[in-house]
Amino acid sequence: MKKLIAAVLVAAMSISLAACGSKKEEEPASAPTLENQETEAEAPQPEAEEPKESEPATEDPAPSSEPAAEFTTVTEGVLTMGTNATFPPYEFYEGENIIGIDAEVAELLAEKLGLRLEIVDMDFTAIVTSVQTGKVDVGVAGMTVDEERLKNVDFTDSYATGVQVIIVPQDSQIASVDDLEGKLIGVQEGTTGHTYCSDDYGEDSVVAYNNGATAVQALQQGKVDCVVIDKQPAISFVEANEGLKILDTEYVIEDYAVAVSKENTALKDALNAALKEMIDDGTVQKILDKYIKAE
Ligand code: ARG
Repeated sequence: MKKLIAAVLVAAMSISLAACGSKKEEEPASAPTLENQETEAEAPQPEAEEPKESEPATEDPAPSSEPAAEFTTVTEGVLTMGTNATFPPYEFYEGENIIGIDAEVAELLAEKLGLRLEIVDMDFTAIVTSVQTGKVDVGVAGMTVDEERLKNVDFTDSYATGVQVIIVPQDSQIASVDDLEGKLIGVQEGTTGHTYCSDDYGEDSVVAYNNGATAVQALQQGKVDCVVIDKQPAISFVEANEGLKILDTEYVIEDYAVAVSKENTALKDALNAALKEMIDDGTVQKILDKYIKAE
């Protein structure tokens, strides 16, 4: 239960706009800071190294307010997104392509920033470090805003809500969170589910797998008693695997947001402005609805 409170606190801290798309605030000069050039030809040839900064400042209205901050990206003209594409419907493979809620949201965010999106698939545990060390610009991976991560990276405003749920075999004796004591719990390594379960039930009760699908396979094979994972992937995995069900209990409720380097507040600000537009005009909700069936 304390976890739930912690999550609510973190959620409160992270100005969850997504939670109430109706919340309207004063116009934050929504200039889409195109310092990074209008890359119309969207072919950022590395050899094109001319100092574009020196272009005559296009007459920007509203010189009175704060100047649109400049942001830089790892590769000029590109928004490089780190993800772990084992997490339907947020990110998963369709053939060779990574698609899903995060891919679509990020694509539009990039577009609003005048950038081309490039997705780099990696282990979930590598995402925060990759953002921190500038290997990627953003981590978009159904990633929960969490105190531990906030020590290393910043997060944008939230764009979706996640819920940690429990998957069990149809005939399991486990009926709620209260029954997890002494059980073997499968999780995806490095996720908040992993952290909560280790904290609440002890390291020895937790088996961490490289991804959710593998954890669910282990559950089917009877290697663990249950799997704790985010609700939407849980639904996908249960649909794809016979004999499993999701318990009604909500273990922890969380906010998903985009991880950005603490060093790149200009990028975070630009992303937040773009995200706010996409939340306010219903674009984010539309993408969520496309992938998440109404219950
Ligand atoms: N929301 C959980 C977390 O932030 C799980 C995210 C896993 N995402 C993924 N793309 N595999 O820890």
